[in-house]
Amino acid sequence: MESFIEEVLLSKEALQQRIQELGRELTQEYAGKRPLLVCVLKGGMPFMAALMQEIATELSIDFMAVSSYGNQTQSSGEVEILKDLSQPVTGRHVLFVEDIVDTGLTLKYLYNLMDSRDAASVKTVCLLDKPARRSPQHQGVQPDWVGFEIPDEFVVGFGLDYQERYRNLPYIGVLKHEIYE
Ligand code: PRP
Repeated sequence: MESFIEEVLLSKEALQQRIQELGRELTQEYAGKRPLLVCVLKGGMPFMAALMQEIATELSIDFMAVSSYGNQTQSSGEVEILKDLSQPVTGRHVLFVEDIVDTGLTLKYLYNLMDSRDAASVKTVCLLDKPARRSPQHQGVQPDWVGFEIPDEFVVGFGLDYQERYRNLPYIGVLKHEIYE
């Protein structure tokens, strides 16, 4: 295990197994609907890459980049679009692919944005959910599929970063306090 990691929360094998299960569920849900999988960059990238290979129906992909954290460990309360979709979503079944739902701010923002764009449906699959961190005004924000509910720990790996580091770890680990304190 890496020296900056306190504990491995989800091993590479555990992630792989759960992503296969999610892929089977999503295959059933979206069979014949040609969904548009929207990876929310940057953190959603490894999850998207693994998940799309487990979905056995025709689909297309696109990317959005949004940021709510800057370089802090706490959310700034604002969302900024860094990159928008490259195609219209009119009549499409949109599935957002996220690494983590924390305060719910990002997901709420993405849903509001899609309200004006006439998609056939908008849903979210999220690898990690930290319900304990949901802010009061976003209590109702809930992804449609969740890989794992996790406790309120600072986690990195499999797309999740601290100051742009550690996204390449093949597992999800709890970052040692001394790294960010
Ligand atoms: C993270 C994560 C989600 C969002 C969740 O992204 O990927 O998009 O924060 O937090 P919230 O529920 O409090 O809005 P971040 O802004 O850190 O960008 P990144 O994916 O590029 O690291």
